[in-house]
Amino acid sequence: TVAYEYRPGLEGVPATQSSISYVDGQRGILEYQGIRIDNLAKYSSFLETAYLLIWGELPTQGELDSFEYEIRYHRRLKYRIRDMMKCFPESGHPMDSLQACAAALGLFYSRRALDDPAYIRAAVVRLLAKIPTMVAAFQLMRKGNDPIQPRDDLDYSANFLYMLTEREPDELAAKIFDVCLILHAEHTINASTFSAMVTASTLTDPYAVIASAVGTLAGPLHGGASEEVIVMLEEIGSVENVRPFVEKCIERKARIMGFGHRVYKVKDPRATILQALAEKLFEKFGQDIYYDIAIELEKVVAEKLGHRGIYPNVDFYSGLVYRKLRIPTDLYTPMFAIARVAGWLAHWKEQLEENRIFRPTQIYTGLHDHPYIPIEKRM
Ligand code: CMC
Repeated sequence: TVAYEYRPGLEGVPATQSSISYVDGQRGILEYQGIRIDNLAKYSSFLETAYLLIWGELPTQGELDSFEYEIRYHRRLKYRIRDMMKCFPESGHPMDSLQACAAALGLFYSRRALDDPAYIRAAVVRLLAKIPTMVAAFQLMRKGNDPIQPRDDLDYSANFLYMLTEREPDELAAKIFDVCLILHAEHTINASTFSAMVTASTLTDPYAVIASAVGTLAGPLHGGASEEVIVMLEEIGSVENVRPFVEKCIERKARIMGFGHRVYKVKDPRATILQALAEKLFEKFGQDIYYDIAIELEKVVAEKLGHRGIYPNVDFYSGLVYRKLRIPTDLYTPMFAIARVAGWLAHWKEQLEENRIFRPTQIYTGLHDHPYIPIEKRM
């Protein structure tokens, strides 16, 4: 018997009870633990926000200092993980490298003391600390360089940009990157978070939880969209081409990347903040030719598809910010992963607090009592 109506993509079906974040898709509001995203973007730092998401409250100065100190201390990678990465092909996608390295952490820290708060904290710290180092190491190695060690005098975001580029970053660039991490840190039960929760519910180790979430984030309908946005803007090439491009997409029922959202039916509040950040970067480091195309695209899509609730999502302007920070296009999704690990860990912890293994049902559409036909008689 079918107890519930089947909803493809589980649209509107609650998969859990959670107090971590909240989205009002009609009013364009996002809150982490009840705090508006605009306020966090203005006043918080990524690590403070990660602490808030995972432990439910803003840390005191002392708590934040200890958390930051522990993360600084655990940023380095085991040489065996670096050696493993050296065997990866340079042409491979950085998300595949990240997924493999996150899973490999389980080889080193396999104790599953899931009811021990000290174990939970150590896993949170290790993952938040090491994931940026893994992304930066793959970037340097695929260029043929040795990865560089983290610098203890630099904070989380500045250190990541330093490890990625081998240069100490500009202060504004590091600050803006940190805000990007805040904006991408959490977003209710999206596909990768759901994936993390399903994996967590089997009581496996947290490295397997994060590895499965990284694999889910990689797809073009999820985190991969920010890369696709830049490819699309390059393909459009000029402001004059925008209108015919949109018309062609509508005619062919093709997706316009960076637009549309399962929950938001207005412009994603994160897109508004990212657009302002992009403008700040353009002021300091010069305009980007693709920005004019993006503005025109937003206008034409609103005109043609706005009545269906299709507006820019978080991925639309994030690519333009990362481009100005000189981050290679195929690292945009790993940037998303560096941030979202905070949300995944928060949901892992919440899942463990009241766990029941995920085991949904299905509506069977196949045959019954079908005969087994010997191979020589098959057509
Ligand atoms: N361009 C053109 N039409 C669209 C778009 C778009 N970007 N998004 C949705 N639609 C149309 C879609 O064709 C469908 O039309 P119809 O009813 O005629 O078949 C209708 O709107 C509903 O679309 P849906 O696929 O049922 O909506 P969904 O909630 O399952 O999908 C989405 C949400 C984000 C996957 C989708 O909007 C999409 O593919 N967007 C482009 C990719 C993208 O930007 N992804 C990033 C998502 S936000 C951050 C993240 O999750 O990583």
